[in-house]
Order: sequence, then structure tokens, then C-alpha cells
Amino acid sequence: MAQVPVNVTVTGAAGQIGYALLFRIASGQLLGADTPVKLRLLEIPQAVKAAEGTAMELDDCAFPLLQGIDIFDNPGQAFEGSNVALLVGARPRTKGMERGDLLEANGGIFKPQGEAINAGAADDIRVLVVGNPANTNALIAQAHAPDVPTERFTAMTRLDHNRALSQLAKKLGVSINEIKKLTIWGNHSATQYPDIFHAEVNGTTGAKAVGDQAWLENDFIPTVAKRGAAIIEARGASSAASAANAAIDHVYDWVNGTPEGDWTSAAIPSDGSYGVPEGLISSFPVVSRNGRWEIVQGLDIDEFSRGRIDASVQELSEERDAVKKLGLI
Ligand code: NAD
Ligand code: LMR
Repeated sequence: MAQVPVNVTVTGAAGQIGYALLFRIASGQLLGADTPVKLRLLEIPQAVKAAEGTAMELDDCAFPLLQGIDIFDNPGQAFEGSNVALLVGARPRTKGMERGDLLEANGGIFKPQGEAINAGAADDIRVLVVGNPANTNALIAQAHAPDVPTERFTAMTRLDHNRALSQLAKKLGVSINEIKKLTIWGNHSATQYPDIFHAEVNGTTGAKAVGDQAWLENDFIPTVAKRGAAIIEARGASSAASAANAAIDHVYDWVNGTPEGDWTSAAIPSDGSYGVPEGLISSFPVVSRNGRWEIVQGLDIDEFSRGRIDASVQELSEERDAVKKLGLI
């Protein structure tokens, strides 16, 4: 029997990340090689024409799994029947801007999108927010979708996770798949904490394998945490293909499960674990089982890690207070 296609809504479809993402979704990399998809693209009116151009190119790829493309400039229509929503459309950070500067500009985008998800998305909707400030934008969208289970709203720290894997693998001269159980804690921002104390590398921990606290503090953590800014500096534009790749990884694992013996990082609503205030959308070590993210429990957090986690979580609390003040949640 032919499989029912999964409706995937992508906002900001005509942007840089959209361009790197849509072809991979249509080729089956988001959900699996046997899952047909229908794309629902949301853009602002001025960018609809560009999205139409991308849709023409998608047609020209003749992807067997792609069963339709619809383009909208109205969130109400774009999220109708949506099973997976990738909220990418936002104002990207430009040189010299911090994510906090973006709160007000982007907050206004995520309120109507949350309302539209609440009104029309499918019961199994899963939302990944990529547009920055991603954690707090997810909180805004979630606040306006009271009928959707809160756990369905997530934000992307998988790019940070992949960046950390890559930096650690280079330092140790090992391949990526020799490293397991690395964690990004907190906010997708320069305060994030990439944790290698629980990471496993060939029978020891990442921190022991490195054996160099100065490298950890002065090189590894800032390189990972400020990688987004370094890419903006080098490219003159924010990361796009690596961000799209991380979005694919996040949703694929959420739907299909994470491999046994490993975990990944995702920003999901806190249940109070590890002292992170309940409700904040913060990055944790997570596994996906039966289509749901679960926070890995029972890790010992030493004083160094505690301070780093607390600092990033504090920033998330401040962002939440700021959007509360703006009346966005
Ligand atoms: P871009 O400017 O190339 O594209 C953004 C697109 O969003 C544009 O086409 C714009 O027209 C569209 N858009 C704006 N408002 C919209 C709305 N209300 N509805 C629908 N579409 C709308 O930007 P980009 O490089 O694709 O980046 C998108 C976002 O992703 C930025 O916020 C960027 O900072 C963020 N980002 C996040 C991560 C992460 O790891 N979480 C990584 C990279 C980039
Ligand atoms: C990134 O991490 O590459 C993006 O979030 C862009 C940014 O503003 O840092």
C-alpha cells in the first residue's frame, strides 16, 4: 500500500539554510529513504518568487519521495496538517550583533507561527526552531500553542554538538565515530557549554584523553561556542549548509531514535533536571526513544561544569524575562 506522505513545513524557505535544507528533505534524508514527503514552504511576500524558483529546482531533481510542494505567505495555511515544522525564517545575526539584539525583531515572527501551529498542525506535530535566538523563539512559539504538548517544541543545538565532535576528534586524532556521549548544555549562544567530561573516547573520557584543562578552557570551549561568529566573520554570512545538516540530524534522530550506546544534544523543555528551571528550552544530553526525546539522567556534574551550565541557563532565564516584558509569552 502506498505510504501517506509526511507534511513538512519549512519557514524561511528562500533563505540560505532553506536552500541547503530542502533538497535533502526531498531526497529522504530528513525522515528516511522510505518516507514520502510533501513540502509546505512559508516565506514573506517579497521572497515568495525566490521560493518558487527553488521549487522549480526541486521539481527538476525528480525526487521519487517528493509528492508535492506548496508555497505560502501566510502561516495559517503553511502549518495546516503539518507533521514536522522547521522554523528557520528569522533575521540572521550580522557582524557585531549578539543574539539578545534579535529577541524583539524575531519574537514577533514566532508568536503568529505558534498560533498557526496550534490551530492547524497535525496531532503528531514536531517543531524544530533553527531561527535565532532559537531557544527563546521556541519558547515564544510554544507559549502560543497551548493545545500542543509542550515537549513538541525544540530548538537546535545539534550544530554545536557536531562542531564540538569535530574539534575534539581533530585534537585527539580520532575519527568522529570513536567519540560518544558528548553534550552541549544551555543556550545556542556564546554561553553554551560543550561538555567532554562525560564523553567517551576509546575507553576513557574525552577530558582525560585530552588531559589539558587549559586547552579545554581557552581553546575548545570558546572555539565551539563562538564558531557561529567565526563563520559570519569568514563568510560574511551565517552558517548555512552545516546548519541545514544539523537540522536533518535532529529531526532524523527524533523520529527514528538515537543509536544505542550514545546520546546527542538538543534543546528541549526542561523538566527541572540538572537544576535547569522547569519550562526553559535548554540543551541537554538526550536520547530519542519511541519518537520522544528523553534527558539522560544521573550524570555527575562537577564544580567546573556546574558553573558553566548555570551561566548559560541564567542567560536563558534572562531571555525568558525579556520576552515576558515584551508581552511575547
Ligand atoms: P536568510 O536571511 O538567508 O533566510 C531567512 C529567510 O527567512 C529569508 O528568506 C526571509 O525572507 C525569511 N523570513 C523572514 N521572516 C519570515 C517569516 N515571518 N516567515 C517566513 N519566512 C521569513 O537566513 P539563514 O542564513 O537561512 O538563517 C536563518 C536563521 O537561522 C537565522 O536566524 C540564523 O541566525 C539562524 N541560524 C541558526 C543556527 C542554529 O544552529 N540554531 C545556525 C545557523 C543559522
Ligand atoms: C551559528 O551558530 O552558526 C548561527 O547560530 C549563527 C550565529 O548567529 O551564530
